[in-house]
Amino acid sequence: MRVNNIDINKVLDKVRVFAPATVANMICGFDVLGFAVDHPGDEVKMYKSDIPGVRIRSIQGDDGRLPLDADKNTVSACVKMLLTDLCLVDKLGIEIELIKHMPIGSGLGSSSASTVAGLFAINTLLGSPLSKDDLMPYCVEGERLACGHGHADNVAPALMGGVTLIRGQHELDVIKLPVPSELFAGIVFPDVDVPTRDARQLIKDKVQLKDAVIQWGNVGGLVAGLFQNDYDLIGRSMIDVLIEPTRAILIPEFYEMKRIALENGALSFGISGSGPSVVAISRGEVIARTVTEKIKSHLLEKEIDSYQYVSAVNVDGPKVLPFND
Ligand code: HSE
Repeated sequence: MRVNNIDINKVLDKVRVFAPATVANMICGFDVLGFAVDHPGDEVKMYKSDIPGVRIRSIQGDDGRLPLDADKNTVSACVKMLLTDLCLVDKLGIEIELIKHMPIGSGLGSSSASTVAGLFAINTLLGSPLSKDDLMPYCVEGERLACGHGHADNVAPALMGGVTLIRGQHELDVIKLPVPSELFAGIVFPDVDVPTRDARQLIKDKVQLKDAVIQWGNVGGLVAGLFQNDYDLIGRSMIDVLIEPTRAILIPEFYEMKRIALENGALSFGISGSGPSVVAISRGEVIARTVTEKIKSHLLEKEIDSYQYVSAVNVDGPKVLPFND
């Protein structure tokens, strides 16, 4: 990372940033594929202060679950890490307001959206000296702090926008893939909590070769489908034989939701990230809306509350928002 001297007198007074939720794994690509959606997403308001150090002023929308201690909160911890590397941590004061617009532990990359918003905000406040590639390792570190493992399939699409492939995990190699314009996600979050840490512990660390062959055929097929704008190929490739059979157990009505999605025209259906959110990938918004409505009705019949989000793929990643006040 090459950064020219940053003049702290030129640091902005405040900035407001939105970063998107993400659908990690993209069903068949455990830990290597993911895409961002337009909504929901998290927001960070960041202010320059005269008192050096990084502090959390407030967190909204977390039901009191996230730490206000700046060393324990992943957003402030990552901002602090970056300022330390830039030799600014003792010179600059930063205050953070975190506004969560999505549930924690939902499988929508909640912690990643917050971390990406925080790191994009500090970079913007400093006058954007770093590229997104420079910010990426800090985002991955945030994921490690949040759930004990530094997979990048949420933070990469949240930061870069679009669909991303994590080709290399140890030496991070993130590749942006094309996004067919009619690709829509119909996401349903059944109101049960599945922390990523727990959902990762559940899965086996050995796979059968015959299953691996199916899975990497599907990952290759999905990547080819994205390049070729081939919705049928995309649909038939988004099948997960490795992880879904284990994790589906944690998700109420999973196979019934899958049946509803596929019978109503979805290209594919699976778990979003580590769940419990599920995603119906559809060609066009109408099918995505129909499927999510039908799944919602089914869950209501079973007395399970749920939230729905229908969105195109977000191709931009984080963005600066105006202040309303
Ligand atoms: N690839 C991760 C998993 C995404 O499935 O555990 C969740 O953060």
